[in-house]
Amino acid sequence: MNIEALKNDPRMPKHIAFIVDGNGRWAKKRHLIRSLGHKAGFDNLKTQIEFVRDLGIKNLSMYCFSCENWKRPKDEVDFLMDLFNQMLDEFKAEYLDKDIRVIISGDMEDERIPAKVREKAKEIMQLTKNKAGFVLNACINYGGRQEILKATNELINEGAKNVDEKLFTKHLYTADMLPLDFVIRTSGENRTSNFLMWQSAYSEWYFPKKLWPSFTKGDLVKALKIYMNRDRRFGGVKS
Ligand code: IPE
Ligand code: IPE
Ligand code: MG
Repeated sequence: MNIEALKNDPRMPKHIAFIVDGNGRWAKKRHLIRSLGHKAGFDNLKTQIEFVRDLGIKNLSMYCFSCENWKRPKDEVDFLMDLFNQMLDEFKAEYLDKDIRVIISGDMEDERIPAKVREKAKEIMQLTKNKAGFVLNACINYGGRQEILKATNELINEGAKNVDEKLFTKHLYTADMLPLDFVIRTSGENRTSNFLMWQSAYSEWYFPKKLWPSFTKGDLVKALKIYMNRDRRFGGVKS
């Protein structure tokens, strides 16, 4: 794997996203409870975040918990909330002395989320808000429709008139991020499940079959090569 050549390729995306799907099926295949799939998925997420940074990709978004995931059994939701608590502790311990900004996209006022998770989410965003070298966007209690409604209601409350794309984009969680180039959804599901609807309007999508805990660095390299060979036209004609 020639990482240097990949890093220096001008076709490399600047903002990629993971829909980390298949943790439950990964566990089931191994006769484990679903939560152990989430643990394995979380460990893989850490590996992938580091690799994405090593590759020089500037922005990474990841779908950790959707607004719809509250429908899951309470023990699974509780386990996921514990993982997010741990993830936020790790971000704080590892990132504060680095040029890394952490954004948590999603409704952090929702009282179904444990108070400590909501507080830690707000704290890490505040502590890293002036950093820009690498932006890590963790989508927790996130929905694309809800985000669009949030932006709309903020604009109404501001008394905005004649809203254009530029102004609307400023009210999204991703306001300070680069355009979303590439979305990878593991596990073979071919749907967006309410993820970054506005931002992904012109993103490239890729749906590998691998379950998230089994998705390796090599799989990411393969995905990036596929992305780099796509012809992005944005409605125009081939250059
Ligand atoms: C994705 O894995 C992780 C979250 C939704 C938090 P799933 O839990 O959806 O795994 P499958 O789709 O059931 O295999
Ligand atoms: C999407 O996966 C949400 C996350 C990965 C966090 P789901 O597993 O919840 O999506 P559906 O239910 O298959 O659409
Ligand atoms: Mg799933």
